[in-house]
Amino acid sequence: MKRSVQDRIVELKKRLNAVILAHNYQIDSVQELGDYVGDSLGLSRQAARTEADVIVFCGVLFMAETASILNPDKLVLIPDPEANCPMAQMLDPDRLRALKERHPGAVVVCYVNSTAEVKALSDICCTSSNAVEVVESIEPDRPIIFVPDRHLGRYVAEQTGRELILDKGFCPTHVRILPEHIAELKRLYPEAEVMVHPECLAGTVRMADVVASTGGMVRYARESDARVIIVGTEVGLLYRLREENPDKEFLPVTPAAVCPNMKRIMPEKVLWALEELKYEVKVPEAVRGQAKRALDRMLSVGAQPVPAGG
Ligand code: 13P
Ligand code: SF4
Repeated sequence: MKRSVQDRIVELKKRLNAVILAHNYQIDSVQELGDYVGDSLGLSRQAARTEADVIVFCGVLFMAETASILNPDKLVLIPDPEANCPMAQMLDPDRLRALKERHPGAVVVCYVNSTAEVKALSDICCTSSNAVEVVESIEPDRPIIFVPDRHLGRYVAEQTGRELILDKGFCPTHVRILPEHIAELKRLYPEAEVMVHPECLAGTVRMADVVASTGGMVRYARESDARVIIVGTEVGLLYRLREENPDKEFLPVTPAAVCPNMKRIMPEKVLWALEELKYEVKVPEAVRGQAKRALDRMLSVGAQPVPAGG
């Protein structure tokens, strides 16, 4: 990264009392700029507790929206407004309304990879690191709608033994991570351990030693005794894994596991965001209040049972 860009970012951050939150899939030079780098749950928790006046969110739009829902009085900026998550765009509010009408009385759990409108129609949110816990927190006899990721939903259903009503969403990046790629790497590195993200296909998940969120993978890699670890998620995570564990070897299951939207953010755009205070992410108040309820319930999971009914 050009020194002048980095210096200017540091200077503007101080002047504006800004914080930079970056997801684990960001490019290396953006991760280096982050005051906090983490998974969706960690980023939501940071956004909920930050004392900064300005949050520059280096990730995709639903993540910045989440920060704005939790912090209506702060200025939330995304350096590229086109950085969208295609999975979140696979479920529009009308489709969820129709699903709810077909299953009255069902508790709606929505993966945080969803629009603010979808969150507002849901009872509780989850991320990949707490989805099992969130579903386990729901009274045993309640039907559950789980949207939008059908693969995460299938994994959570298997782990909890709960029958979940699923939709058709998926991550175009994670479905490229195939069991045959893992089989080939295991042939070359029989001692290697395999970590995969629960957004992967069923056959891919079956081959894993560990199924975890990106933050869960970071923690697992630190503690594992394995010398070689095969990583089944978006390739951006490899930077952090290698930085933190120079004595271990990390192999991507496939170099094709790239999320083009995550790669839209670059240091220059972070600088422009701070210079021009754009692009602001703000959720309309009518949607925000309802969406916040679902997020707050997620953030306090374990504390109270989750009722149905919006
Ligand atoms: P994590 O919460 O595991 O970081 O996942 C976010 C995501 O978008 C996965 O594709
Ligand atoms: Fe969305 Fe997949 Fe990109 Fe994650 S990796 S932000 S789920 S498209």
